[in-house]
Amino acid sequence: MLLEVRGLDVRYGRTHAVKSIDLDLAEGEIVTVLGANGAGKTSLLRALQGAIKSGSGSVRFAGEVLTHASPAERVRRGMMLVPEGRQIFVSMTVEENLLMGAYLRRGADWHQDLSQIYDRFPNLAERRHMKASILSGGEQQMLAIGRALVSRPRLIMLDEPSLGLSPLFVNNLFELIKELNRSGISILLVEQNTAMALDVAERGYVLELGRVVLSDRADALSRDPALAEAYLGGHASSQHPIDQIA
Ligand SMILES: Nc1ncnc2c1ncn2[C@@H]1O[C@H](COP(=O)(O)OP(=O)(O)O)[C@@H](O)[C@H]1O
Ligand SMILES: [Mg+2]
Repeated sequence: MLLEVRGLDVRYGRTHAVKSIDLDLAEGEIVTVLGANGAGKTSLLRALQGAIKSGSGSVRFAGEVLTHASPAERVRRGMMLVPEGRQIFVSMTVEENLLMGAYLRRGADWHQDLSQIYDRFPNLAERRHMKASILSGGEQQMLAIGRALVSRPRLIMLDEPSLGLSPLFVNNLFELIKELNRSGISILLVEQNTAMALDVAERGYVLELGRVVLSDRADALSRDPALAEAYLGGHASSQHPIDQIA
């Protein structure tokens, strides 16, 4: 296994956000984590990145125990989170944002990585010296993913990347996820767009109130009527509501 999570717990004071979660991800896999708002998805990913401390449990990545490793150490080992809401620096240029992804790679040849990212995202190349604030939501998501790629991750963890994007951009995003995966990057994908997430993923986990309540192959989950009704508020097969307005 590339990633092995056992008994992971996250608490915020009296809120028990993640309850003894076990999760596996094999090298080369796309695994999705689904669940309604407040289910604990973001807390799980932030704990995996080391951004918040887990109360108990263990995280192994590529054979190393990283349970107590700093976020920077996890990035160096190849784990990279693309956070919810993208968290790009809007007052910095596109290129400065991308270089933030390189700061942990001492002496690495990030010039070459930048040019690969610009080849992949021509919209970012054209706007490289402009402030990130001028980018559309879809372009900002590409920038957030581009920034993650500069760190040369083995595993990218995406927290609701499709949120707030128009349907066209959602399609582009899912194509990009497949492409990154074909290029050898493993993917842990948190989504509320259940149908599309199960379509790209090999396996999925469903969280409810911090617990894994279902885990199975993605095709089996997408046929499971319990999924939509019981755990996802009946939205399993629809786009995220915001897509219908955008
Ligand atoms: N910083 C925080 N402080 C206190 N409670 C939090 C914090 N972040 C999340 N929570 C709570 O933890 C639970 C899980 O939240 P979260 O991980 O954001 O879920 P999801 O990403 O699935 O919507 C919710 O009850 C939420 O209110
Ligand atoms: Mg969240």
